[in-house]
Amino acid sequence: MYLKSICVVYLLVLTIKEIWKHGTLIESSKEFWIHKEINLEDLEKLPGRVRATWLKVCVHRAKPMKMSNYETNMTYHFTSKKILLVVTGSTDGIGRAYAKELAKRGMNVVLISRTYEKLEKVATEIEKEYGVKTKIIAIDFSRQNSTFEHIERELQNIPIGILVNNVGMNYPYPMYVTEVQPQFLQEMINVNIGATILMTRMILPQMQKRQKGAIVNVSSGSELQPLPLMTVYAATKIFIKSFTEALRFENQKYGITIQQLSPLFVSTKMNAFSHRLQKISLLVPDAEMYASSAINTLGVVNYSTGYWAHGIQYFFISIPPVWLRTITGGIMNQVFRKDYFSAEKKVSRSDENKTQKAFI
Ligand SMILES: NC(=O)c1ccc[n+]([C@@H]2O[C@H](COP(=O)([O-])OP(=O)(O)OC[C@H]3O[C@@H](n4cnc5c(N)ncnc54)[C@H](OP(=O)(O)O)[C@@H]3O)[C@@H](O)[C@H]2O)c1
Repeated sequence: MYLKSICVVYLLVLTIKEIWKHGTLIESSKEFWIHKEINLEDLEKLPGRVRATWLKVCVHRAKPMKMSNYETNMTYHFTSKKILLVVTGSTDGIGRAYAKELAKRGMNVVLISRTYEKLEKVATEIEKEYGVKTKIIAIDFSRQNSTFEHIERELQNIPIGILVNNVGMNYPYPMYVTEVQPQFLQEMINVNIGATILMTRMILPQMQKRQKGAIVNVSSGSELQPLPLMTVYAATKIFIKSFTEALRFENQKYGITIQQLSPLFVSTKMNAFSHRLQKISLLVPDAEMYASSAINTLGVVNYSTGYWAHGIQYFFISIPPVWLRTITGGIMNQVFRKDYFSAEKKVSRSDENKTQKAFI
């Protein structure tokens, strides 16, 4: 009984610690902590590194300080109309929501994605709703041609404050590796790995020069263990984890924030293969809910799931050994695969019915 209570308390403490680490209590306890004034102008005069550390200490330890909404964390540090935000994969899902959320907080935005018409639409929405400037670059990251030279030309002499390496693709539904076309696998590697490395390589030197900036690399909860039936996708995400951590070490002396975001399921078109993942719930937020929460962790923690319920899930998922998690992941994906095929069957049945009716 005594041992049981100790275990329960220990688990409780770990859970609270984990939620805290994932930056979730910061948002909800904001009002509670805000009562001591600090002079923001004085803060501005401090050199980048000192200011970053000061903000980090204040927010991390939840020391009371007077700051308005978005300024309660380090995004304050980067939020300036002169400095731009660049988001890859910004016409849909998390990328679009992240761009809109920071535009709402006053940042000018460069949107990079594949479909020009969608880019134009998102840019117009942002400019109208938030009165900030936007720039769009239509590019397909799956191609290995002159993509990055083109982006580099477009971004020449533009100071970038935050780079969000968000672009990513997955199989259309859980598949065995041999079912996926080799061309598709190559494209996935280009998008999920190549785009992050080369965008970072392009923007990092200017951030190093200014000793300021943030890079957010979007990984995934699938980095936690091998994930059968999404084998290559999960492998690309563990690459992002390794890349981000090493990059952070390399850039310590520049005071640049390098964050890894690892969401679990978010209701976006990437998960259209299962109706279960399209329903918004406590564990599956929509992209807007997710992005506004994730942004609040920027500059606060270097690693986060970005969303409080994902933080708790992540904690419990990491308890069992990797082999058990791999089996569970495989079984989960088999369920999603069934979801996909049964939805496909329904669609083809209703198509058949329509054609029969048309002939009658
Ligand atoms: N959704 C989740 O549950 C989840 C969970 C963990 C991690 N993530 C990660 O979060 C990131 C965003 O995912 P999401 O769910 O928001 O995805 P999404 O809704 O499918 O949106 C992907 C975005 O990337 C763009 N894109 C895709 N392929 C591209 C290419 N070849 N070149 C240029 N742009 C391209 C898309 O443009 P178009 O509009 O033209 O298609 C779209 O704007 C990804 O890195 C993903 O791995 C997502």
